[in-house]
Amino acid sequence: MKNIINVKHPLLQNLVTKLRDINTNSYDFRKYLSEVGRILLVEALKDETLKEKEVQIWVGNYRFPVLDEEKYVFIPILRAGLPMLDGVLEMIPLARSGFLAIKRNEETLESILYYDRVPPLKGKTAIILDPMVATGGSLDYAISVIKEKNPERIISLNVIGAPEGLNRISKKHPDVKVFIAQIDEKLNDKGYIIPGIGDAGDRAFNTE
Ligand code: PRP
Ligand code: URA
Repeated sequence: MKNIINVKHPLLQNLVTKLRDINTNSYDFRKYLSEVGRILLVEALKDETLKEKEVQIWVGNYRFPVLDEEKYVFIPILRAGLPMLDGVLEMIPLARSGFLAIKRNEETLESILYYDRVPPLKGKTAIILDPMVATGGSLDYAISVIKEKNPERIISLNVIGAPEGLNRISKKHPDVKVFIAQIDEKLNDKGYIIPGIGDAGDRAFNTE
């Protein structure tokens, strides 16, 4: 699983534990997802190439490195990926955002796409946001939809994954780098990650 990067940081582990806690309310749950997103983004872009820009400063004009912010397109997978968007947009405010809504059929575990509002991606870095990689069906589907739009590269930021789903992504999309905070033990017979955080969409938006 060379393309799966398990980002290890005490701050991330601390946040994941808070997400697991069933006493964490939906407001805090969204806030922690946003913070995890931001830390994963920092790691994912740590070797990014910068361009130079002339900046007027107090002693005249100097050239300094800047990020080409408009090159990045964040794509949260609705619903549970939505809270991660706030955190990453704080880091790259001029990035674009596109939206994919994918829902698992909880009987068959098959993924269904019900909304695609992703802008053109040619020459862009597409960054997928979704807390959970369980069977990997939703991420696999999202990557396939995004690949049809020909981005320069695709990165995925995820909070918790099961080995089953991550293996699937690694085999089918070895070109996509997945930055993930935690790899858990397994899936249960209903396709939920154990120990996991439960249903991330329901917990984020206080539904059942
Ligand atoms: C969750 C999660 C992922 C998907 C992971 O979404 O946010 O998108 O499940 O499961 P998979 O790897 O087996 O596909 P869900 O389908 O519950 O939709 P929701 O965010 O609207 O609740
Ligand atoms: N979707 C979730 O929200 N949680 C899981 O454990 C699996 C799929």
